[in-house]
Amino acid sequence: MPQFNLGRTISWTRALKAANEEDAATLAMLSDLQGNILKGHGRDNTLHLFLTFDAGASEKVKAFLRGMGDKMPSALDQLTKTQLFKSVGQDSGLFVAMFLSSQGYQALGLNEVQPTGAAFRAGMKQRTATLNDPDPGQWDKHLAGPVHAMILLAHDDQGALEADAQALRVELGALNGAITILGQEAGLARRNKDKHGIEHFGYVDGRSQPLMLDEEIEAEAGGIDKWDPTIPLSQILVPCPGGALDVSFGSFFVFRKLEQNVKGFKTQEQTLRAKLKEESGNDPDELAGAFVVGRYENGTPIEVSPVEQQMTQDVPNNFNFDADPTGLRCPFAAHIRKTNPRDKSIRSNSRLMARRGITYGERNDDPNDGQLDNKPQKGVGLLFMAYQSSIENQFEFTQQSWANNANFHFNSPSQPVGIDPVIGQPQGGVPQRYPLHYGVGPLSTPFDFSGFVTMKGGDYFFAPSLSFFKRL
Ligand code: HEM
Repeated sequence: MPQFNLGRTISWTRALKAANEEDAATLAMLSDLQGNILKGHGRDNTLHLFLTFDAGASEKVKAFLRGMGDKMPSALDQLTKTQLFKSVGQDSGLFVAMFLSSQGYQALGLNEVQPTGAAFRAGMKQRTATLNDPDPGQWDKHLAGPVHAMILLAHDDQGALEADAQALRVELGALNGAITILGQEAGLARRNKDKHGIEHFGYVDGRSQPLMLDEEIEAEAGGIDKWDPTIPLSQILVPCPGGALDVSFGSFFVFRKLEQNVKGFKTQEQTLRAKLKEESGNDPDELAGAFVVGRYENGTPIEVSPVEQQMTQDVPNNFNFDADPTGLRCPFAAHIRKTNPRDKSIRSNSRLMARRGITYGERNDDPNDGQLDNKPQKGVGLLFMAYQSSIENQFEFTQQSWANNANFHFNSPSQPVGIDPVIGQPQGGVPQRYPLHYGVGPLSTPFDFSGFVTMKGGDYFFAPSLSFFKRL
């Protein structure tokens, strides 16, 4: 069989026909790849179990992992189920995925089949200086590790999810300490009145994704002429060492628990609004918050429209910043411009990851109600998750060289644009400047919008192929 070409997108429905050698290879690849990588699993409830292995009981651990290989749906199973859900509403049921950290491979004596990559091998705890992350002493204990593996369970029915998780806990308990559950996180998706997914600050999230399935690219109703989200498979997949097939692939996976101080953030939006009003004589209203994110709460990109547009079915994503070279419509520091400058000259789309995050934490208020007093200050946030083929070139580059870098995007030391107001670290330091009037100069005097997202722990993992698990 010729070598599988990762430098392209694929059509899974065409592969199903297996009409030629290339399609047959794609089908085999999809049957051995974990789900959730090429396309999100889409369930509203998740449980994340963080595990540590007893190196002295590695045979027992491996037997458990072999069993996991049978429980996890392949990418092909997942795509088929999603299609059935869409077309006839058939419940997709439980989704399962499993990830190993470098320390996990080592504990099992699997050094020879460990994926390479400096960041992966080091683990997130060793990269705090690179990322300006808080000291691991301040992280949630169960995430400070040593974390050897994470199991992801997802279901649309919370009760069914808990029952499945309990069965798994019993199975793990019966291994007499070979595997210890360090702790767990629970994700719970949130939606706004338009039924679009939102994060805790109230903004539509998960809209802009790099796409590698032809079916998803074709479904971009708004077109892809201004912003083409197409990426080759090689941006997300790498060969899976220890997999059974020539077409066994896996993906590097970043997990970060990011706590959100919603009250602080929403209050700061109001302070920014008052400042812009004072300096310009105009009340920017909701545009103040939109300057920080780059989109209005309902997803309207401010690059496209200075006012919040009524949302049709699809949140717009076919835009770029070419007509805004000085950041007077969408500030350079705005979260979506920092993390995806949509700039061909620096090949910025090669940095994109397949983001699969979900919100966590309970709250009873409406995130979009415009009130401040009822907003949570802690206990809620984002379980940031992302697949990629290089942690250094994608996640770490985005966080360090873009979000945390006050001089990106315009490298003008006399007027740094400031850090990303949503995820830039550390807090303070170099403030941002915001447009006083949409589309025309000058910019405001500096204003520090930072410190409302706190990293509570996480790690770097690999999502191996299914045959890797089954062969252990
Ligand atoms: C609590 C933390 C975070 C919040 C509240 C947040 C919020 C958002 C929102 C509201 C959007 C716009 C919706 C969309 O285009 O999907 C977005 C997009 C995005 N975020 Fe985040 N985010 C967070 C963490 C991160 C992190 C840690 C990274 C990477 C280091 C990241 C990278 C991105 C990227 C690449 C996009 C897409 C930009 C585009 O293509 O236009 N985000 N985020």
